[in-house]
Amino acid sequence: MSHVIPDPARASASSRSPRTAQPAWADRVRELALAPTWVMLRVILRALQLSLLGALVPAHAQSDAVARGEYLFHAAGCATCHTRPEGDDAPAGEALAGGRALDTPFGRFYSPNITPHPDLGIGRWSAEDLWRALSEGVGPGGIHYYPVFPYTSYTRMRREDSDAIHAYLMSVQPHAVPNRKHELAWYVRWRFANRVWKWLFLDQERFVLAPDKDAAWNRGAYLVDALGHCGECHSLRNRAGAVQRERHLVGNPEGPDGESVPSIRSDGEDGIGDWSRSEIATYLNSGEDPDFDFAGGAMVEVIEDNTSRLSDDDRNAIATYLKDLPPL
Ligand code: HEC
Ligand code: HEC
Repeated sequence: MSHVIPDPARASASSRSPRTAQPAWADRVRELALAPTWVMLRVILRALQLSLLGALVPAHAQSDAVARGEYLFHAAGCATCHTRPEGDDAPAGEALAGGRALDTPFGRFYSPNITPHPDLGIGRWSAEDLWRALSEGVGPGGIHYYPVFPYTSYTRMRREDSDAIHAYLMSVQPHAVPNRKHELAWYVRWRFANRVWKWLFLDQERFVLAPDKDAAWNRGAYLVDALGHCGECHSLRNRAGAVQRERHLVGNPEGPDGESVPSIRSDGEDGIGDWSRSEIATYLNSGEDPDFDFAGGAMVEVIEDNTSRLSDDDRNAIATYLKDLPPL
């Protein structure tokens, strides 16, 4: 018989049931009495199922992604630019709420708020939105970012790493800090020009494994060139501010804040050709170089926010890669 277990969805069909042992109305009464219990039971089962799925499986996967995202976030040095450091007249800004001034030959940029505040931060951003910003330099609504946001390096990042960073960013404390307007030379105020700049200079290539190198070398290359964006300071730039690929990591006499940045290739004189692999790894961990001097300038923050937080394996991987770059 089809109505032993009453199904509310079929309740109306049941009154037309051809059963004759009992009057149709008795069937109907029994169904009406049972239907709410059955619906309730299904609601409870469904809720249980959802909470099991929601609370156990994805939450576990979710917290893994958040932890992985936090590690990658530091490996990519995002915190340095997006938090305002303590100034002469002001205490440090809220974590990741932006407002850090970045001086360039084109004017002064202020980093934006990347906390998950829904209106003043990126709380409404999907993982896809972050991926587009990091890989193409395009924001929601189609705005084109200035390359001071180093998507020129992040474009080599893997999609799953961008997604993990998104999961981490959505988990941090939101701050209601509005963005500050950049103070730029008139000729770079028009954002559309960034599109032209990208067309000329943005190599939107993904990271490819070098099959003739080992896993440590490839991991090092990924950490240096995609996440750590080391070349943004350590490579020469042309007059349009674009990193010159053929002058990769040769150093830059006019780095950030007009400071000279040394070569990190195996050049004997200027580079780190005479540093051993473990000396490089030590420097990236503690800032101490083979002459027992300590890192200064912009490298201090790189070591604090990024390389000192990496695993030993990852620091050794960076050293393996750098040691293998011939003089240029
Ligand atoms: C060298 C400094 C610097 C680093 C490193 C950096 N950013 Fe930014 N970021 C900026 C600046 C400056 C802008 C604004 C660009 C513009 O207005 O065109 C920006 C823009 C953004 C935006 C767009 C926000 C909005 O409201 O439109 C996001 C999201 C973002 N960055 C996330 C990140 C993440 C994630 C990382 C690390 C993977 C990172 N940034 C690393 C400087 C930096
Ligand atoms: C924001 C700019 C900036 C970024 C990004 C940066 N560096 Fe540096 N780096 C510097 C500066 C400036 C120095 C010189 C420090 C000093 O004067 O003590 C330096 C020095 C170094 C040295 C020591 C070289 C020497 O001869 O003393 C190494 C090694 C190094 N960086 C590796 C890296 C690696 C690896 C990365 C990427 C994970 C990186 N840097 C990212 C600015 C930067």
